[in-house]
Amino acid sequence: MSTSPSSERDDLGRRTFLKGVAAGAVGLGLSGALPRDLLAEEEVPSGGTMKTRVLGRTKVPVSVVAYGGGGLRPDGVRLLQVAVEKGINFIDVANSYGGGKAEEAVGAFLPGYPHRDRLFINTKLSGLKPQGSAKQVYDQFEAKVRQSLARMKTDYVDLVMWPHGAQRVEFLKHEAARDAMRKLREKGLVRFFGMSSHENYKAVCEAVVDDGFYDVFLTVINICTQNVADAGQPKSGGRRPGRPTEDTTALLKKASAKNIGVMVMKAAKGGYLSSGTDALLAKAFPGESSLSRHQRLYRYALNQEGVHTDVIGITQVLHLREAIQLGCA
Ligand SMILES: NC(=O)c1ccc[n+]([C@@H]2O[C@H](COP(=O)([O-])OP(=O)(O)OC[C@H]3O[C@@H](n4cnc5c(N)ncnc54)[C@H](OP(=O)(O)O)[C@@H]3O)[C@@H](O)[C@H]2O)c1
Repeated sequence: MSTSPSSERDDLGRRTFLKGVAAGAVGLGLSGALPRDLLAEEEVPSGGTMKTRVLGRTKVPVSVVAYGGGGLRPDGVRLLQVAVEKGINFIDVANSYGGGKAEEAVGAFLPGYPHRDRLFINTKLSGLKPQGSAKQVYDQFEAKVRQSLARMKTDYVDLVMWPHGAQRVEFLKHEAARDAMRKLREKGLVRFFGMSSHENYKAVCEAVVDDGFYDVFLTVINICTQNVADAGQPKSGGRRPGRPTEDTTALLKKASAKNIGVMVMKAAKGGYLSSGTDALLAKAFPGESSLSRHQRLYRYALNQEGVHTDVIGITQVLHLREAIQLGCA
């Protein structure tokens, strides 16, 4: 990617330029047309390369930050392109994100990218409720996966998550669903299986680890879930009051012992943090001034034993720059 300084950046100053690009591009919905030097090389720590970790038993090295595609849309594909250029090889989407637009954004990127095999793409089979005979269940799974593949313009997906947002342990034990997933793997459409949970997540993910069917899980891990006694009260107005009382320390140890891939979400999400967050951060990072508050929250999650990657929602240049700096540090 081009790293030569632009005259605009010289005029405005580096920080102002980046902020201006971010605000203007996102505000106008023009992020797909961002200039190639959107992220100047000097914004990435010198000599920095994106760190990777092996995602548990999948044995695949993935970037320590994953591109959270909750807000990814086709007009933001330039952000995704720069992220991959800078070493983010893990892309997290779901077939419900933006009603399919997030997967379409991946599909706007992939055909022009020559190294599909270097990427690790996760999608989630949102809203799939298996019904009927084993064959009918299989057909439902295959139809969903094929829809995602068509949108993303690829012929396989590395990781498929079902359920997307599991709340109950019983949901995980659906035999016809498991058979369907195994068959999808035999057909070469899917490489690995996972599930995600952000409600009742501790019980659900512990069941996943005990059970052993899934290769990977995605759940809530943050400075409050790891320090429940000092986390304080959920912030008023938080969407998920009480969630930080679910301590995931033991869960992570267990997952690590079983070599399950662990993806983190909600490391910095307001509704999942409590009143004690800033005091905990000050204690965890004494005197730290080089990382932003969001970066410290993401870093904290990444420092937990057993965590492989932190899924960061990237919808602005600021998010992308901070994610890259964090992943290279
Ligand atoms: N059930 C599931 O499987 C599930 C559920 C939720 C999310 N996810 C995945 O996880 C990803 C992350 O979602 P999350 O809920 O954990 O939220 P997140 O990405 O941690 O978002 C945090 C919020 O913080 C703000 N922010 C400020 N500085 C930031 C920075 N440097 N980097 C990133 N955000 C910054 C952003 O708001 P502003 O835009 O206002 O700055 C952003 O909306 C999603 O994109 C999706 O891929 C999966």
